Amino acid sequence: MKSAALTELDTLKAEFAISLTAAEAASDDAELQRLRSSFFGPKGKVTLLLRSVGQLPAEERPVAGKVINQVRQELEGQLVLVLSRHEELARKAALSSHRLDTTLPGRQPVPMGAVHPVHRVVARMTELFVRMGFEVATGPEVELDELNFGALNFPDDHPARDMQDTFFVRAPDERSFGRLLLRTHTSPVQVRQMRAEGAPIRIIAPGRVYRCDSDASHSPMFHQIEGLWVEEGVSFAHLKGVLTSFIHSFFGERGVRFRPSFFPFVEPGAEVDIGCVFCGGKGCRVCKHTGWMEILGAGMVHPNVLEACGIDAEKNTGFAFGVGVDRIAMQLYGIDDLKHLFTSDVRFLESL
Ligand code: PHE
Repeated sequence: MKSAALTELDTLKAEFAISLTAAEAASDDAELQRLRSSFFGPKGKVTLLLRSVGQLPAEERPVAGKVINQVRQELEGQLVLVLSRHEELARKAALSSHRLDTTLPGRQPVPMGAVHPVHRVVARMTELFVRMGFEVATGPEVELDELNFGALNFPDDHPARDMQDTFFVRAPDERSFGRLLLRTHTSPVQVRQMRAEGAPIRIIAPGRVYRCDSDASHSPMFHQIEGLWVEEGVSFAHLKGVLTSFIHSFFGERGVRFRPSFFPFVEPGAEVDIGCVFCGGKGCRVCKHTGWMEILGAGMVHPNVLEACGIDAEKNTGFAFGVGVDRIAMQLYGIDDLKHLFTSDVRFLESL
């Protein structure tokens, strides 16, 4: 004759089997978890039954305990099996709903920055002059009238100032500084350096300059590299030698032509042309069919400038030159409007 406990165990087994089938069909685990606690939790039916073994007659206890324990393990095993089947199904569903298509193109990489075309030209030019022993010097973009013009042999109210349409800056303490302006060339850097160092001196001054000018080939802000070499015995031959060597290294072998020109701070002064970079001198649209492209101004530093900078003009001579970098970048990259360089449209800059 079966003990009451074991009969009850049979009932529980049947009940469990039915509940498990129902819980397995449910879409989530909630039912299975409930089933687990109602059978095997601290107050679960099987747990209580197991606990009731203590009240059975002593001879029934070992058998009842053993059987109930076996059944408990068996049922719990079934439940765990169903739980893990559920888990597997959920995982498969998640995977197929977030299907990963490895044939899709990858995400765009974060774009790398690059050096602006104007600064690429500045860097290449600077390097060539540094190799010839020039040091790089810089100065402020808001400059004293006296350094931008006065010390460079532009007398006050002299018409030569009209060559450089100037942005003047209204400063509160003009009286103590004198008139301020946005430098129209980097020549004031040369004045500053000559006053600070004296001769001998061999510098280049790259930087931004400003003139009140704006069309396809003029921008109110543009870039220059100016050079200066002052020392005993420096002659026009040195000027031609240094500039010709620079031009050949930068643009390749080609014609170089010095035309007389006027700048207040040099005497004699010249404008320098090179054989057109595009047609090699035959004549094309870019060089306006002349075969030449003007690229810089140069000359022997005027004695008035040396004296204004505290350098003995009896003993020292020197030359200076100034290159417009943007115009050269335009020509090298085939850009037809200077403003493209400064509107910061990345699509345009990337196309260069
Ligand atoms: N400073 C001149 C300019 O900007 C260029 C130049 C420099 C010309 C040195 C001659 C000598 O126009």
